[in-house]
Amino acid sequence: MDKILVHGGRPLSGNVRVSGSKNSALPILAATLLTRDECVIHHVPDLSDIHYMLQILSHLGAQVERASGTVTVKAEKIATEAPYELVRKMRASVCVLGPLLGRENEATVSLPGGCVIGDRPIDLHLKGFEALGAAVRVQGGNVKCFASQLKGAVIPLRGKFGSTVLGTDNIMMAAVLADGTTVIDGAAEEPEVVDLANFLNAMGAKIEGAGTRRIIVEGVKELHGAEHAVIPDRIEAGTFLVAGAIAGKEVKLTRANPTHLQSVIGALEKAGFRIESKKDSVTIHGNGAPTPLELITEPYPGFPTDMQAQMSALLCKTNGISTITENIFPQRFMHVSELKRMGANITLENATAIINGVDRLSGAPVMASDLRASAALVLAGLQADGVTEVNRVYHIDRGYEMIDEKLNALGAEIERVKV
Ligand code: EPZ
Repeated sequence: MDKILVHGGRPLSGNVRVSGSKNSALPILAATLLTRDECVIHHVPDLSDIHYMLQILSHLGAQVERASGTVTVKAEKIATEAPYELVRKMRASVCVLGPLLGRENEATVSLPGGCVIGDRPIDLHLKGFEALGAAVRVQGGNVKCFASQLKGAVIPLRGKFGSTVLGTDNIMMAAVLADGTTVIDGAAEEPEVVDLANFLNAMGAKIEGAGTRRIIVEGVKELHGAEHAVIPDRIEAGTFLVAGAIAGKEVKLTRANPTHLQSVIGALEKAGFRIESKKDSVTIHGNGAPTPLELITEPYPGFPTDMQAQMSALLCKTNGISTITENIFPQRFMHVSELKRMGANITLENATAIINGVDRLSGAPVMASDLRASAALVLAGLQADGVTEVNRVYHIDRGYEMIDEKLNALGAEIERVKV
Protein backbone atom coordinates (compact mmCIF):
# COMPACT_ATOMS: atom_id res chain seq x y z
CA MET A 1 0.00 0.00 0.00
CA ASP A 2 1.76 3.18 -1.14
CA LYS A 3 1.69 6.50 0.59
CA ILE A 4 2.68 9.89 -0.81
CA LEU A 5 4.58 12.70 0.86
CA VAL A 6 3.62 16.20 -0.30
CA HIS A 7 6.17 18.93 0.48
CA GLY A 8 4.16 22.16 0.72
CA GLY A 9 4.94 25.61 -0.60
CA ARG A 10 6.26 24.75 -4.08
CA PRO A 11 4.85 27.07 -6.79
CA LEU A 12 3.34 25.32 -9.83
CA SER A 13 3.67 26.42 -13.44
CA GLY A 14 3.72 24.82 -16.87
CA ASN A 15 1.54 22.50 -18.95
CA VAL A 16 -0.31 19.37 -17.90
CA ARG A 17 -2.11 17.04 -20.33
CA VAL A 18 -5.56 15.85 -19.27
CA SER A 19 -6.15 12.09 -19.49
CA GLY A 20 -9.21 10.38 -20.96
CA SER A 21 -12.32 10.43 -18.78
CA LYS A 22 -12.65 7.53 -16.30
CA ASN A 23 -16.42 8.07 -16.03
CA SER A 24 -16.78 7.99 -19.80
CA ALA A 25 -14.42 5.06 -20.47
CA LEU A 26 -16.12 2.76 -17.94
CA PRO A 27 -19.63 2.71 -19.53
CA ILE A 28 -18.12 2.79 -23.05
CA LEU A 29 -16.05 -0.32 -22.27
CA ALA A 30 -19.23 -1.98 -20.92
CA ALA A 31 -21.04 -1.03 -24.15
CA THR A 32 -18.58 -3.10 -26.22
CA LEU A 33 -20.51 -6.15 -24.90
CA LEU A 34 -23.41 -5.12 -27.17
CA THR A 35 -21.72 -6.43 -30.36
CA ARG A 36 -19.82 -9.53 -31.49
CA ASP A 37 -17.58 -7.29 -33.58
CA GLU A 38 -14.28 -5.75 -32.53
CA CYS A 39 -14.34 -2.30 -30.86
CA VAL A 40 -11.31 -0.01 -30.49
CA ILE A 41 -11.35 2.64 -27.75
CA HIS A 42 -8.65 5.34 -27.56
CA HIS A 43 -7.55 7.60 -24.66
CA VAL A 44 -8.52 5.00 -22.06
CA PRO A 45 -6.77 6.12 -18.84
CA ASP A 46 -4.46 3.71 -17.00
CA LEU A 47 -6.42 3.44 -13.73
CA SER A 48 -7.27 0.62 -11.36
CA ASP A 49 -11.01 1.14 -11.99
CA ILE A 50 -10.41 0.61 -15.71
CA HIS A 51 -8.34 -2.48 -14.92
CA TYR A 52 -11.25 -3.92 -12.91
CA MET A 53 -13.67 -3.27 -15.80
CA LEU A 54 -11.32 -5.02 -18.26
CA GLN A 55 -11.13 -7.98 -15.84
CA ILE A 56 -14.93 -8.19 -15.79
CA LEU A 57 -15.13 -8.07 -19.62
CA SER A 58 -12.54 -10.86 -19.83
CA HIS A 59 -14.34 -12.91 -17.19
CA LEU A 60 -17.54 -12.58 -19.24
CA GLY A 61 -15.67 -14.08 -22.22
CA ALA A 62 -14.59 -11.02 -24.23
CA GLN A 63 -11.12 -10.87 -25.79
CA VAL A 64 -9.47 -7.77 -24.33
CA GLU A 65 -6.18 -6.20 -25.38
CA ARG A 66 -4.58 -3.01 -24.14
CA ALA A 67 -1.74 -1.14 -25.89
CA SER A 68 -0.94 2.01 -23.89
CA GLY A 69 -4.08 4.21 -24.14
CA THR A 70 -5.92 2.03 -26.67
CA VAL A 71 -8.14 -0.90 -25.65
CA THR A 72 -9.49 -3.44 -28.15
CA VAL A 73 -12.49 -5.58 -27.15
CA LYS A 74 -14.13 -8.42 -29.08
CA ALA A 75 -17.08 -10.00 -27.28
CA GLU A 76 -18.02 -12.82 -29.67
CA LYS A 77 -19.65 -15.04 -27.07
CA ILE A 78 -20.40 -13.84 -23.56
CA ALA A 79 -21.60 -15.17 -20.24
CA THR A 80 -24.20 -13.11 -18.42
CA GLU A 81 -23.04 -13.24 -14.80
CA ALA A 82 -20.51 -10.73 -13.42
CA PRO A 83 -18.82 -12.29 -10.37
CA TYR A 84 -19.03 -10.76 -6.89
CA GLU A 85 -15.28 -10.86 -6.31
CA LEU A 86 -14.78 -8.47 -9.23
CA VAL A 87 -17.93 -6.34 -8.97
CA ARG A 88 -17.37 -5.59 -5.26
CA LYS A 89 -14.13 -3.80 -6.18
CA MET A 90 -15.86 -1.14 -8.23
CA ARG A 91 -19.42 0.12 -7.96
CA ALA A 92 -19.48 1.29 -11.57
CA SER A 93 -19.43 -2.42 -12.62
CA VAL A 94 -23.20 -2.09 -12.33
CA CYS A 95 -23.11 -0.59 -15.84
CA VAL A 96 -22.60 -4.04 -17.38
CA LEU A 97 -26.22 -4.85 -16.47
CA GLY A 98 -27.65 -2.81 -19.35
CA PRO A 99 -25.54 -4.25 -22.17
CA LEU A 100 -25.87 -7.85 -20.91
CA LEU A 101 -29.65 -7.49 -20.69
CA GLY A 102 -29.79 -5.68 -24.01
CA ARG A 103 -27.80 -8.30 -25.90
CA GLU A 104 -28.61 -11.58 -24.10
CA ASN A 105 -31.98 -10.76 -22.46
CA GLU A 106 -30.54 -11.77 -19.11
CA ALA A 107 -27.96 -10.48 -16.61
CA THR A 108 -26.79 -11.26 -13.10
CA VAL A 109 -24.60 -8.78 -11.26
CA SER A 110 -23.92 -8.52 -7.56
CA LEU A 111 -25.51 -5.52 -5.91
CA PRO A 112 -22.95 -2.75 -5.43
CA GLY A 113 -22.31 -2.08 -1.78
CA GLY A 114 -22.36 1.41 -0.33
CA CYS A 115 -19.15 3.34 -0.16
CA VAL A 116 -17.66 6.11 1.91
CA ILE A 117 -19.58 8.80 0.00
CA GLY A 118 -22.84 7.24 1.08
CA ASP A 119 -25.51 4.78 0.05
CA ARG A 120 -25.35 3.90 -3.63
CA PRO A 121 -28.78 2.48 -4.54
CA ILE A 122 -29.65 1.31 -8.06
CA ASP A 123 -33.46 1.34 -7.67
CA LEU A 124 -33.84 3.73 -10.62
CA HIS A 125 -31.78 1.43 -12.86
CA LEU A 126 -33.97 -1.56 -11.93
CA LYS A 127 -37.21 0.42 -12.37
CA GLY A 128 -36.01 1.31 -15.85
CA PHE A 129 -35.27 -2.32 -16.75
CA GLU A 130 -38.73 -3.34 -15.52
CA ALA A 131 -40.31 -0.60 -17.63
CA LEU A 132 -38.56 -2.20 -20.64
CA GLY A 133 -40.27 -5.50 -19.79
CA ALA A 134 -37.55 -7.24 -17.78
CA ALA A 135 -38.30 -9.27 -14.66
CA VAL A 136 -35.95 -8.14 -11.88
CA ARG A 137 -35.13 -10.22 -8.78
CA VAL A 138 -32.73 -9.52 -5.94
CA GLN A 139 -31.40 -12.80 -4.54
CA GLY A 140 -28.34 -13.62 -2.46
CA GLY A 141 -26.80 -10.18 -2.92
CA ASN A 142 -27.22 -10.42 -6.69
CA VAL A 143 -29.61 -8.65 -8.98
CA LYS A 144 -30.97 -10.93 -11.71
CA CYS A 145 -32.72 -9.47 -14.74
CA PHE A 146 -34.28 -11.42 -17.57
CA ALA A 147 -36.74 -10.75 -20.40
CA SER A 148 -38.12 -12.72 -23.36
CA GLN A 149 -37.86 -9.54 -25.45
CA LEU A 150 -37.25 -5.98 -24.27
CA LYS A 151 -39.85 -3.49 -25.49
CA GLY A 152 -39.40 0.28 -25.80
CA ALA A 153 -41.14 2.37 -23.10
CA VAL A 154 -41.41 5.88 -21.68
CA ILE A 155 -39.23 5.87 -18.55
CA PRO A 156 -39.17 8.63 -15.92
CA LEU A 157 -35.66 8.37 -14.45
CA ARG A 158 -35.26 10.93 -11.67
CA GLY A 159 -35.02 10.18 -7.97
CA LYS A 160 -35.03 12.38 -4.90
CA PHE A 161 -31.45 13.41 -5.64
CA GLY A 162 -32.21 14.22 -9.26
CA SER A 163 -30.90 12.39 -12.32
CA THR A 164 -28.74 9.26 -12.31
CA VAL A 165 -25.65 9.12 -14.57
CA LEU A 166 -25.01 5.37 -14.64
CA GLY A 167 -28.76 4.77 -14.52
CA THR A 168 -29.16 6.78 -17.73
CA ASP A 169 -26.24 4.87 -19.25
CA ASN A 170 -27.68 1.49 -18.24
CA ILE A 171 -31.16 2.18 -19.63
CA MET A 172 -29.72 3.55 -22.88
CA MET A 173 -27.61 0.39 -23.32
CA ALA A 174 -30.56 -1.90 -22.56
CA ALA A 175 -32.85 0.00 -24.95
CA VAL A 176 -30.66 0.14 -28.08
CA LEU A 177 -31.65 -3.43 -29.15
CA ALA A 178 -35.21 -3.36 -27.73
CA ASP A 179 -38.33 -3.57 -29.89
CA GLY A 180 -39.64 -0.07 -30.55
CA THR A 181 -38.81 3.33 -29.13
CA THR A 182 -37.72 4.24 -25.58
CA VAL A 183 -38.00 7.73 -24.11
CA ILE A 184 -35.86 8.45 -21.04
CA ASP A 185 -37.40 11.38 -19.18
CA GLY A 186 -35.24 13.18 -16.63
CA ALA A 187 -32.05 11.74 -18.12
CA ALA A 188 -28.63 12.78 -16.79
CA GLU A 189 -27.09 15.49 -19.00
CA GLU A 190 -23.43 14.82 -18.17
CA PRO A 191 -20.85 14.91 -21.02
CA GLU A 192 -20.00 11.28 -20.22
CA VAL A 193 -23.59 10.29 -21.12
CA VAL A 194 -23.20 12.16 -24.44
CA ASP A 195 -19.88 10.40 -25.09
CA LEU A 196 -21.51 6.99 -24.51
CA ALA A 197 -24.43 7.88 -26.81
CA ASN A 198 -21.98 8.97 -29.51
CA PHE A 199 -20.16 5.64 -29.25
CA LEU A 200 -23.44 3.67 -29.36
CA ASN A 201 -24.54 5.64 -32.44
CA ALA A 202 -21.17 4.87 -34.06
CA MET A 203 -22.06 1.18 -33.44
CA GLY A 204 -25.33 1.67 -35.35
CA ALA A 205 -27.68 2.66 -32.53
CA LYS A 206 -30.30 5.38 -33.04
CA ILE A 207 -30.12 7.72 -30.04
CA GLU A 208 -31.20 11.36 -30.02
CA GLY A 209 -31.24 13.98 -27.26
CA ALA A 210 -28.19 12.85 -25.26
CA GLY A 211 -27.06 15.84 -23.19
CA THR A 212 -30.65 16.91 -22.57
CA ARG A 213 -33.17 15.65 -20.03
CA ARG A 214 -35.05 13.71 -22.73
CA ILE A 215 -33.25 10.95 -24.60
CA ILE A 216 -35.02 9.00 -27.38
CA VAL A 217 -33.71 5.54 -28.34
CA GLU A 218 -35.11 3.81 -31.42
CA GLY A 219 -34.38 0.07 -31.09
CA VAL A 220 -32.36 -1.60 -33.89
CA LYS A 221 -31.77 -5.27 -34.72
CA GLU A 222 -28.03 -5.40 -34.00
CA LEU A 223 -24.95 -3.25 -33.44
CA HIS A 224 -21.57 -3.50 -35.19
CA GLY A 225 -18.05 -2.70 -34.01
CA ALA A 226 -16.78 0.88 -33.85
CA GLU A 227 -13.70 2.96 -33.01
CA HIS A 228 -13.96 5.84 -30.52
CA ALA A 229 -11.77 8.33 -28.63
CA VAL A 230 -12.91 9.00 -25.06
CA ILE A 231 -13.44 12.66 -24.06
CA PRO A 232 -10.99 14.37 -21.66
CA ASP A 233 -11.62 13.83 -17.94
CA ARG A 234 -13.34 17.02 -16.75
CA ILE A 235 -12.91 16.10 -13.08
CA GLU A 236 -9.19 15.48 -13.42
CA ALA A 237 -9.04 18.80 -15.32
CA GLY A 238 -10.98 20.55 -12.56
CA THR A 239 -8.67 19.05 -9.96
CA PHE A 240 -5.62 20.50 -11.75
CA LEU A 241 -7.35 23.88 -12.08
CA VAL A 242 -7.76 23.88 -8.30
CA ALA A 243 -4.08 22.90 -7.93
CA GLY A 244 -3.26 25.93 -10.08
CA ALA A 245 -5.53 28.09 -7.92
CA ILE A 246 -3.87 26.84 -4.73
CA ALA A 247 -0.20 26.96 -5.74
CA GLY A 248 -0.03 28.13 -9.34
CA LYS A 249 1.71 31.02 -10.98
CA GLU A 250 0.37 29.90 -14.38
CA VAL A 251 -0.89 26.36 -15.12
CA LYS A 252 -2.12 25.33 -18.58
CA LEU A 253 -4.25 22.21 -19.10
CA THR A 254 -3.94 20.71 -22.60
CA ARG A 255 -6.40 18.28 -24.24
CA ALA A 256 -9.04 19.82 -21.99
CA ASN A 257 -12.62 20.66 -23.01
CA PRO A 258 -13.58 24.03 -21.43
CA THR A 259 -17.27 23.58 -22.34
CA HIS A 260 -17.39 20.65 -19.87
CA LEU A 261 -15.84 22.79 -17.14
CA GLN A 262 -18.09 25.87 -17.19
CA SER A 263 -19.38 25.56 -13.61
CA VAL A 264 -15.88 24.94 -12.21
CA ILE A 265 -14.32 27.76 -14.26
CA GLY A 266 -17.19 30.05 -13.22
CA ALA A 267 -16.63 29.30 -9.53
CA LEU A 268 -12.87 29.94 -9.76
CA GLU A 269 -13.43 33.19 -11.69
CA LYS A 270 -15.93 34.24 -9.03
CA ALA A 271 -13.18 33.62 -6.44
CA GLY A 272 -11.01 36.05 -8.39
CA PHE A 273 -8.84 33.79 -10.58
CA ARG A 274 -8.12 34.79 -14.18
CA ILE A 275 -8.79 31.84 -16.51
CA GLU A 276 -8.21 31.70 -20.27
CA SER A 277 -10.16 29.09 -22.25
CA LYS A 278 -9.27 28.01 -25.76
CA LYS A 279 -10.72 25.21 -27.95
CA ASP A 280 -8.80 22.44 -26.20
CA SER A 281 -6.91 24.13 -23.36
CA VAL A 282 -7.59 26.05 -20.16
CA THR A 283 -5.05 28.25 -18.34
CA ILE A 284 -5.38 29.49 -14.75
CA HIS A 285 -3.32 32.36 -13.33
CA GLY A 286 -2.42 32.55 -9.63
CA ASN A 287 -4.13 35.03 -7.32
CA GLY A 288 -2.74 35.67 -3.88
CA ALA A 289 -6.04 36.74 -2.32
CA PRO A 290 -9.03 34.77 -3.60
CA THR A 291 -12.47 35.62 -2.26
CA PRO A 292 -14.77 33.16 -0.44
CA LEU A 293 -17.55 31.26 -2.27
CA GLU A 294 -20.99 29.76 -1.65
CA LEU A 295 -21.17 26.54 -3.68
CA ILE A 296 -24.02 24.07 -4.19
CA THR A 297 -23.47 20.74 -5.94
CA GLU A 298 -26.04 19.80 -8.59
CA PRO A 299 -26.34 17.43 -11.56
CA TYR A 300 -24.60 18.68 -14.73
CA PRO A 301 -24.41 21.47 -15.83
CA GLY A 302 -24.43 22.51 -12.15
CA PHE A 303 -21.34 22.43 -9.94
CA PRO A 304 -20.16 18.77 -9.85
CA THR A 305 -20.23 16.76 -6.62
CA ASP A 306 -16.95 15.21 -7.80
CA MET A 307 -15.27 18.63 -7.42
CA GLN A 308 -16.66 19.43 -3.96
CA ALA A 309 -13.77 18.06 -1.88
CA GLN A 310 -11.12 19.65 -4.10
CA MET A 311 -12.75 23.09 -3.81
CA SER A 312 -12.92 22.64 -0.03
CA ALA A 313 -9.11 22.32 -0.03
CA LEU A 314 -8.81 25.69 -1.81
CA LEU A 315 -11.36 27.43 0.40
CA CYS A 316 -9.60 26.26 3.62
CA LYS A 317 -7.05 29.04 3.12
CA THR A 318 -9.35 31.55 1.39
CA ASN A 319 -9.86 34.54 3.68
CA GLY A 320 -13.49 34.76 4.83
CA ILE A 321 -16.35 32.29 5.25
CA SER A 322 -17.26 29.93 2.40
CA THR A 323 -20.02 27.31 2.29
CA ILE A 324 -20.39 24.16 0.19
CA THR A 325 -23.76 22.36 0.15
CA GLU A 326 -23.70 18.77 -1.09
CA ASN A 327 -27.05 17.93 -2.76
CA ILE A 328 -26.03 14.72 -4.54
CA PHE A 329 -24.25 12.69 -1.82
CA PRO A 330 -25.13 14.43 1.47
CA GLN A 331 -22.56 12.40 3.42
CA ARG A 332 -19.66 13.19 1.07
CA PHE A 333 -17.48 14.95 3.64
CA MET A 334 -14.83 12.32 4.49
CA HIS A 335 -12.16 14.90 3.64
CA VAL A 336 -13.35 17.38 6.29
CA SER A 337 -11.97 15.59 9.36
CA GLU A 338 -8.62 15.08 7.61
CA LEU A 339 -8.42 18.73 6.50
CA LYS A 340 -9.13 19.73 10.13
CA ARG A 341 -6.11 17.65 11.19
CA MET A 342 -4.12 20.05 8.97
CA GLY A 343 -5.55 23.07 10.78
CA ALA A 344 -8.59 23.83 8.63
CA ASN A 345 -11.57 25.46 10.35
CA ILE A 346 -14.64 23.65 8.98
CA THR A 347 -17.98 22.88 10.62
CA LEU A 348 -20.63 20.61 9.14
CA GLU A 349 -24.30 21.51 9.35
CA ASN A 350 -26.32 18.70 7.77
CA ALA A 351 -25.10 18.61 4.14
CA THR A 352 -23.33 21.97 4.29
CA ALA A 353 -19.66 22.54 5.10
CA ILE A 354 -19.00 26.01 6.57
CA ILE A 355 -15.36 26.85 5.89
CA ASN A 356 -13.69 29.68 7.78
CA GLY A 357 -10.47 30.40 5.90
CA VAL A 358 -7.27 30.16 7.99
CA ASP A 359 -3.89 31.77 7.35
CA ARG A 360 -1.91 28.56 7.47
CA LEU A 361 -2.33 24.80 7.12
CA SER A 362 0.25 22.44 8.58
CA GLY A 363 1.37 19.22 6.97
CA ALA A 364 0.24 16.07 8.83
CA PRO A 365 -0.30 12.34 8.31
CA VAL A 366 -3.81 12.04 6.78
CA MET A 367 -5.94 9.15 5.55
CA ALA A 368 -7.30 8.92 2.03
CA SER A 369 -10.86 7.58 1.94
CA ASP A 370 -12.64 8.07 -1.37
CA LEU A 371 -11.17 9.06 -4.70
CA ARG A 372 -11.95 12.78 -4.65
CA ALA A 373 -11.40 13.27 -0.91
CA SER A 374 -7.91 11.82 -1.40
CA ALA A 375 -7.17 14.27 -4.20
CA ALA A 376 -8.33 17.08 -1.91
CA LEU A 377 -5.76 16.04 0.71
CA VAL A 378 -2.96 16.19 -1.88
CA LEU A 379 -4.15 19.67 -2.94
CA ALA A 380 -4.23 20.82 0.69
CA GLY A 381 -0.68 19.50 1.10
CA LEU A 382 0.48 21.75 -1.73
CA GLN A 383 -0.31 24.81 0.42
CA ALA A 384 0.58 23.40 3.86
CA ASP A 385 3.72 24.13 5.89
CA GLY A 386 5.94 21.07 5.98
CA VAL A 387 5.11 17.58 4.73
CA THR A 388 1.66 16.01 4.35
CA GLU A 389 1.66 12.21 4.37
CA VAL A 390 -1.33 10.83 2.47
CA ASN A 391 -1.92 7.17 3.31
CA ARG A 392 -3.93 4.57 1.31
CA VAL A 393 -3.02 6.20 -1.97
CA TYR A 394 -4.72 3.36 -3.88
CA HIS A 395 -7.89 5.45 -3.56
CA ILE A 396 -6.25 8.15 -5.71
CA ASP A 397 -4.89 5.67 -8.25
CA ARG A 398 -8.47 4.53 -8.90
CA GLY A 399 -9.26 7.78 -10.70
CA TYR A 400 -6.11 9.82 -11.35
CA GLU A 401 -3.44 8.75 -13.85
CA MET A 402 -0.01 9.50 -12.29
CA ILE A 403 -1.26 12.52 -10.30
CA ASP A 404 2.04 12.76 -8.38
CA GLU A 405 4.14 12.66 -11.55
CA LYS A 406 1.91 15.24 -13.27
CA LEU A 407 2.08 17.61 -10.27
CA ASN A 408 5.86 17.15 -9.94
CA ALA A 409 6.22 18.07 -13.63
CA LEU A 410 4.53 21.38 -12.70
CA GLY A 411 7.02 22.02 -9.88
CA ALA A 412 5.47 20.21 -6.92
CA GLU A 413 7.65 18.05 -4.66
CA ILE A 414 5.73 14.80 -4.10
CA GLU A 415 7.34 11.46 -3.21
CA ARG A 416 5.59 8.10 -3.55
CA VAL A 417 6.75 5.67 -0.85
CA LYS A 418 6.13 1.94 -0.87
CA VAL A 419 4.97 0.64 2.55
C1 EPZ B 1 -21.62 8.76 -11.35
O1 EPZ B 1 -21.98 7.85 -10.34
C2 EPZ B 1 -20.11 8.95 -11.22
N1 EPZ B 1 -19.43 7.67 -11.39
C3 EPZ B 1 -19.77 9.53 -9.84
O2 EPZ B 1 -18.37 9.79 -9.82
C4 EPZ B 1 -20.51 10.84 -9.67
O3 EPZ B 1 -20.27 11.35 -8.36
C5 EPZ B 1 -22.02 10.62 -9.85
O4 EPZ B 1 -22.25 10.03 -11.16
C6 EPZ B 1 -22.81 11.92 -9.78
O5 EPZ B 1 -22.35 12.79 -10.76
C7 EPZ B 1 -19.27 7.16 -12.64
O6 EPZ B 1 -19.72 7.74 -13.62
C8 EPZ B 1 -18.53 5.87 -12.74
P1 EPZ B 1 -25.77 8.79 -9.80
P2 EPZ B 1 -23.48 7.25 -10.33
O7 EPZ B 1 -26.56 7.57 -10.14
O8 EPZ B 1 -24.03 7.19 -11.71
C9 EPZ B 1 -28.94 8.57 -6.31
C10 EPZ B 1 -16.16 9.63 -9.05
O9 EPZ B 1 -15.63 10.20 -8.09
N2 EPZ B 1 -29.43 7.37 -6.97
O10 EPZ B 1 -25.77 9.92 -10.79
O11 EPZ B 1 -23.45 6.01 -9.53
C11 EPZ B 1 -27.53 8.40 -5.76
O12 EPZ B 1 -27.54 7.79 -4.49
C12 EPZ B 1 -17.53 9.03 -8.90
O13 EPZ B 1 -15.66 9.54 -10.20
C13 EPZ B 1 -30.60 6.77 -6.53
O14 EPZ B 1 -31.22 7.22 -5.57
O15 EPZ B 1 -24.27 8.36 -9.52
C14 EPZ B 1 -27.05 9.83 -5.71
O16 EPZ B 1 -27.53 10.45 -4.54
C15 EPZ B 1 -18.04 9.09 -7.47
N3 EPZ B 1 -31.07 5.65 -7.17
C16 EPZ B 1 -27.70 10.47 -6.94
O17 EPZ B 1 -28.81 9.62 -7.26
C17 EPZ B 1 -30.42 5.12 -8.26
O18 EPZ B 1 -30.90 4.11 -8.81
C18 EPZ B 1 -26.79 10.57 -8.16
O19 EPZ B 1 -26.22 9.30 -8.36
C19 EPZ B 1 -29.22 5.74 -8.70
C20 EPZ B 1 -28.76 6.87 -8.06
